[in-house]
Amino acid sequence: MEFIKTEQQGHVLIITINRPDALNALNRQVLSELKTCVEGIDPEKVRCVVITGSGNKAFVAGADIAQMKSMTKAEGKEFGLFGNSVFSALEELPVPVIAAVNGFALGGGSELALACDIRIASDNAVFGQPEVALGITAGFGATQRLPRLIGEGQAKRLLFTGERVKADEALQIGLVCKVFPIEELIEKALAMANAIAANGPIAIRGTKVAIKKGLAMDLKAGLELEAGYFGDCFETKDQVEGMSAMLEKRKPEPFTGK
Ligand code: HXC
Repeated sequence: MEFIKTEQQGHVLIITINRPDALNALNRQVLSELKTCVEGIDPEKVRCVVITGSGNKAFVAGADIAQMKSMTKAEGKEFGLFGNSVFSALEELPVPVIAAVNGFALGGGSELALACDIRIASDNAVFGQPEVALGITAGFGATQRLPRLIGEGQAKRLLFTGERVKADEALQIGLVCKVFPIEELIEKALAMANAIAANGPIAIRGTKVAIKKGLAMDLKAGLELEAGYFGDCFETKDQVEGMSAMLEKRKPEPFTGK
């Protein structure tokens, strides 16, 4: 792969978008490589993913404007659908994905972060959906995921004005969960990822799916769904070990996902 670097540390996979000359902008090749990478993730080996951009300036500065400039209507739609298929594959991974946003996250870069389960940012991070200033709508999911995450009013503000939002405001409006100094970002992302990876994999998987599916249901149906995933955890080795350890006042053996 030319533009995607991966590194496995224990049960955590770090994916780095590595196209620093263009501030990690997403051209078709970057997206294709990201898709191949995501599709190759084995949840038996990977319990949490961290995704970041190379360098200290940008997470991802958007879809590649040079590549989009001369697209026809049909090509534009196809590119949007392709990007959406990549981000949906990421979103639908059975394991949690943390976006470690290390600088500019504009347009498609912000949308990549939105497709992740958790967003944390460096203090120099800048978010924005500047597409309308280029004469296009957002095309990799922001009209759908942004209002679901931060509410309709704030999402419309960002999507209509193209205004950029710095890390402190991103935290205040719920676009990110935590902000760290840039030099600590990856260390903090890995600490969070390792904490997730140390928990029961069946429980984490059930939690992720219950939240995702439940948000598309009414509360009653969502609670029934939750009961199903809750029940699925019982009679597993991890549930028996986790509860036994607590009652016996000892640390549990590492969870196995069985
Ligand atoms: C292609 C990009 C790029 C992008 C930066 N570059 N962003 N190339 N597509 N999205 C390239 C620049 O052309 C430049 O290449 C190099 O990266 C460094 O960028 P500079 O502009 O020189 O850096 P700086 O002056 O520090 O400005 C940083 C920046 C600016 C504010 C992030 O680069 C910028 O505004 N980028 C575009 C942001 C944007 O509009 N994103 C949304 C795209 S639309 P050279 O060769 O000159 O060194 C989108 C739609 C998604 O994402 C949906 C599609 C379906």
